Amino acid sequence: MTTLTVLPSGKTYEVAAGTSLLKALQAAGEPIISKCGGEAKCEDCHVLVPVGRKSLSKIQRLENEKLDTIVGISSNSRLACQAVLGEEPVTVELLVRA
Ligand code: FES
Repeated sequence: MTTLTVLPSGKTYEVAAGTSLLKALQAAGEPIISKCGGEAKCEDCHVLVPVGRKSLSKIQRLENEKLDTIVGISSNSRLACQAVLGEEPVTVELLVRA
């Protein structure tokens, strides 16, 4: 288990390691969108990870290619559907969508 902190609400959740960020956020009822069903195709699940990036699974080619197409990405950007939680605590920031 690890601790997932979600911004801007500041809520924390205990999540099993090996769970994708998207599944963890959905299970928690957080407002995360996933139009493509978690296949790194829609970019709706773009989040920032200010803390614990190294605890997440490494960025693979599919995610990297999609991130390259997103306007406004930062070095903290991840696709929640592709990032899998490890054992260390992670803080994720949800992006406001119009
Ligand atoms: S859910 Fe579509 S890119 Fe992650």
